[in-house]
Amino acid sequence: MDKKVTVIGAGNVGATAAQRLAEKELCDVVLIDIVEGVPQGKALDLAEAAPIEKHDAHLTGSNGYEASAGSDIVIITAGIPRKPGMSRDDLIGVNAGIVKNVSKEVAKYSPNAIIIIVSNPLDAMCHVAYEASGFPKNRVIGMAGVLDSARFRAFISMELNVSVENTHAFVLGGHGDTMVPLPRYSTVAGIPITELMSKERIDALVKRTATGGAEIVSLLKTGSAYYAPASAAVEMAESILKDKKKILPCAVLLQGEYGFNDLFIGVPVKLGAKGVEEIIEIKLLDDEKAALQKSAAAVEELKGVLKKLG
Ligand code: NAI
Ligand code: 2OP
Repeated sequence: MDKKVTVIGAGNVGATAAQRLAEKELCDVVLIDIVEGVPQGKALDLAEAAPIEKHDAHLTGSNGYEASAGSDIVIITAGIPRKPGMSRDDLIGVNAGIVKNVSKEVAKYSPNAIIIIVSNPLDAMCHVAYEASGFPKNRVIGMAGVLDSARFRAFISMELNVSVENTHAFVLGGHGDTMVPLPRYSTVAGIPITELMSKERIDALVKRTATGGAEIVSLLKTGSAYYAPASAAVEMAESILKDKKKILPCAVLLQGEYGFNDLFIGVPVKLGAKGVEEIIEIKLLDDEKAALQKSAAAVEELKGVLKKLG
């Protein structure tokens, strides 16, 4: 393949993302993890599935970064996931250190790459990667809104018994309990869901979306979601690799947009070959603005925790 994507962290999200990237024949894939044998074993296993899945993407596993050199995109999933009773924010101490070290290696070996962050707490980890990599803001992008919107879309489709393909949804804000699903901008075949469902049902779906990650954690008990998160990260990577210019909700550094400064938070952006090519400012009603402010305040609080961690 003429494109190369490195996935750091060969755990649940990382290995599933590698599988989807290869099976869609988007790029060659390098899997990196600190655990000896795991990235090599998973890459080999995926390569052995290739004749059946009919793709020619090359897969490599490694414990070092040499194999990642010159990557077009690096997806960072390294870190620990949450367990029942933990919030995403409980992961900050451990994951900040991991994401900092990993981002420095990415900058060294793939200075022109676009970074997609997955590790939690997502918005705070975007700040860590942005600072540690020294990359410009258009090349550091957090994955959360695509996942949260996909969950909202799945719930809308289940509720109305319509194809998921007819659904569209926007979830903005930080990737936490304060995320902001926007029913006014969420549609089925172009019709806003506010015209298709009662307020009570919409409120129930909004709540289920905001707690969607915790719902999976409470079922799995040993970790968090990974199929949908991997799909979400790969949708972002595909838009960049193919220069599709899709408008997707992603965590990006805001410098004045939506009234926020120096803050990574989820908003609609255009993703193309240059990474974030445009931040789309949509009009929000007062209650939507207030919800976004609350979500931004939660991310600001985590920025404070990062400062204390040093
Ligand atoms: P996992 O535990 O299955 O995989 C994490 C992998 O990272 C492990 O294989 C571990 O060995 C590796 N790792 C740890 N330190 C490393 C280092 N310094 N260098 C390279 N690899 C390292 O966890 P899972 O389920 O894959 O989740 C990964 C992260 O993604 C978690 O922080 C989780 O909370 C987050 N996540 C975020 C989502 C989002 O919407 N942004 C959605 C799903 C997960
Ligand atoms: C999720 O939303 C754990 O952030 C991850 O599933």
